[in-house]
This record gives sequence, structure tokens and C-alpha cells, in this order.
Amino acid sequence: MDPKKLFIRTYGCQMNVYDSERMAEAMGGQGYVETDTPDDADMILLNTCHIREKAAEKVYSELGRLKDLKAANPDLKIGVAGCVAQAEGEEIMKRQPMVDLVVGPQTYHRLPDMVKSVSEGTKVVDTDFPLEDKFEVLKNRPKARRAPTAFLTVQEGCDKFCAFCVVPYTRGAEVSRPAERILREARELVERGVREITLLGQNVNAYHGEGTNGATWSLARLIWALNDIDGLERIRFTTSHPNDMSDDLIAAHGECEKLMPYLHLPVQSGSDRILKRMNRSHTAEDYLRLIKRIRAARPDILISGDFIVGFPEETDADFEDTMSLIRDVGYGQAFSFKYSTRPGTPAAERPLVDDAVASERLQRLQSLINEQARSVMEDMVGREIGVLFEKKGRMEGQMVGKSDYLHAVHVTAEGIAAGDLRRVRITGAGPNSLAGALV
Ligand code: 5AD
Ligand code: SF4
Repeated sequence: MDPKKLFIRTYGCQMNVYDSERMAEAMGGQGYVETDTPDDADMILLNTCHIREKAAEKVYSELGRLKDLKAANPDLKIGVAGCVAQAEGEEIMKRQPMVDLVVGPQTYHRLPDMVKSVSEGTKVVDTDFPLEDKFEVLKNRPKARRAPTAFLTVQEGCDKFCAFCVVPYTRGAEVSRPAERILREARELVERGVREITLLGQNVNAYHGEGTNGATWSLARLIWALNDIDGLERIRFTTSHPNDMSDDLIAAHGECEKLMPYLHLPVQSGSDRILKRMNRSHTAEDYLRLIKRIRAARPDILISGDFIVGFPEETDADFEDTMSLIRDVGYGQAFSFKYSTRPGTPAAERPLVDDAVASERLQRLQSLINEQARSVMEDMVGREIGVLFEKKGRMEGQMVGKSDYLHAVHVTAEGIAAGDLRRVRITGAGPNSLAGALV
């Protein structure tokens, strides 16, 4: 019998990318192979994101578009996974009755059983927070060849309850995986050709998992253990909270050879009044002091962040405080968003900022960030840095990779293969990438 085809569309964060990969692996055991188009699929899974309004709306309109496929092929099964599944549950099937399966982020290890029920014609909704560990159920990763970079989830969930955020509700309480399992998975990835691992967690630097010696390990301790794996060349982690930037982690940025000089450290706002209303439990000054300490440990580190503009009751003066913090930090990159009301979160009850005002603030903030990102890229010209090559470029003989600082770098040269880590002299800065030559 031909294998059945599975199409997964992934929305949102890197953890969803990781989850989609694990779901595909779990379905592999049921005879499904992945396909890159929904048109000939036997099963379609939308792995969804709930962080901002448009994300959920996109899912509903995507489901609307899938109606024709379902009409043409009544055997086609359609599932919704991820954070919208968690938040909306049965509501999804009420709005789109053709959906067969709704599975939250904490139960996708049960997918094979759910798919069995679905193929027998029973609809399934599973949005539990179960006691068993999904990663333990999905223990063995298949040995297929893969890209030189990979994500690895080490921590999940969040106990911080920022007033705007759904993550504590959709992903649940903070949980850290035991170090032994993480190290085992990292070794398996390296055997499959992976050279760079990005450790994932909604609050990754709050990691406090069981160490291989029975003691509780911090993220820094875990990074030092990963540093000893032969064949692993680069370690990154994301996303961090300022309050969990511990001394050993700051020190690791200066001392740990494989830990890359890039840190995503969201602050959300530069106004203490707004930070307080956001329930961030740190001030702008705390954040700036922290950045100073991190740069003292690793002077060339590139800082990235997240910002929300138009948070309820944000005044012009609050917004100017954010702009001034951005000028003080000097970001290499940042993500910024207009505040979006998430039902059930504390901020959802508060008066909104006028939409046109919020849009104008977002534009000003983004052009400042773009200016900073540009100048950081231009400063790379003339420098010699590490590049991990990932794939062929668009031009003949060209290879593309990522620099230590996570910029895309193009190099035209003979004899570079995907997975090679080489020293490159940066020769030019384009709008979205750098150009370089092998040293
Ligand atoms: N509205 C706008 N942006 C949000 N984020 C999280 N929740 C919201 C919301 N309700 C942003 C934050 C966070 C990033 C992942 O998404 O900046 O760091
Ligand atoms: Fe959401 Fe705040 Fe937790 Fe980040 S720290 S996941 S923004 S609640």
C-alpha cells in the first residue's frame, strides 16, 4: 500500500516548528510521509499560533480555503494543532464542522491514537495538560539526513503572566526537561549531521532541569554540558526573560566557546509605568544595567528584542521612553508588534490606545530599529567571522549560511558544502544579507 501523505502548515514561533517536526515523526510510525503541498494530502494539520489576533483569524481563513479540497476528497482528514487548538477547543469544530481533530501542544504524542479514531470516523478534541511527558513518549528520533541546524525544546510554558500574553494559558506552567534526555537528543541530532542547536523555551533561561548528577541544573550548566559534545559547533538559545539572566549565564557568554554572540532579550517597553502595568516585574533601568553586564562579559554580542506598542493606556511620553531605551541599547535586530487584545488576559479589560496612534508609533519604532540593524550590518564589513553554510544560493556557485551573529551571508567559492563552518571576511552589506569571501 502506498504511504499516506501528511501536510503540516506551521504558524508562529520556533517552538511550533520543532513541534511540527515531532508530530511528523510520530505520524511516520503510522505510515504517513510528509508532502509539501496540501493538494494531494490524506491528512492536513495546521499547527497554529494564538499570540496575536491575526494569527487565529489566519487559521480560520485557511480552513475556509481547505473546504474545496475536502469536498473533492471526503476521505481527507483535517486537524488543528497548537495554541489556537488549545485556546479554542471544540469551538473550532463549531465554526468549521469539517475539522476532524483538535489537538493542543501538550498532547500531540497521542496523535497516532487520535488519527486511528479519526480514520474510523470519530472526531477528537484533546486539549489536556497530561501528567506524562510527551517527549518521553516520542523518545527516538529517526535517523534521516537533515539540515545543519536544529531546534531542541528544553523548557516549555511560562509562569510570568505578563498582562498581555496567552502563553501561560495555552502552553501551561513552566516545565524543564531532564538534562540527560536533552543531551541524548542533542547527540542524536549531531549524528544526523546537525552542527548548530538552538535551545528553545518560552522562558528558556529559567531552565531548571534535573542534571545528570541528580542536582538541579541551570541553563548555563546545561550549555556547558552541550559544549562537550564533539561535532556540535554552535549553541544558541531563545527566548529569555530579563529577570532570569543569571550570573552563570552571563559569564557563559564570555567563556563558553560554542555559545554564539547573539541574545534575544525582550523588554516590551521602555516605560516603567507601562512595564508595571504589563506585570513585567523589572524596570527599564534594570534592563539597561543588565545589558551593560552582558556586554562587559561579551563586548561584541548582538542584542535582539521584542516590543509592544499601543499597550492599553500607553501615552506619547511612555512611547518616547521606549524609543529612548532603544537608542541606549542599540539593537542588532528586533520584533515589534501593535498590542492585540487576547481574551482572558488581564490587559483585555483595559481601555485601548487609538489604532491610528498605535500604527504611527509602530512605524517610528520600526524605522529606528531598521536604522540600528543596518548600521550593525555595515559594521560587519571588513570583519572576519564564522559562517555555518546551510544551502545553495540563487546565483551560480553561491552558498548561503548564517554568521555567528545570525546574519545571512552569501559566499561564492568552490568546495563549500552544507554543514561546513568556515571563516569568512565580510565584503559587503545588502538590505537583508551580507556578502563575504572565504579566508
Ligand atoms: N499583543 C501584541 N504582541 C504580543 N506579544 C505577546 N502577546 C502579545 C499581544 N497580546 C509579543 C511579545 C512577545 C512576542 C513573542 O509577541 O512582544 O515577546
Ligand atoms: Fe508571555 Fe511574558 Fe511568559 Fe513571555 S514571559 S511567554 S511574554 S507571559
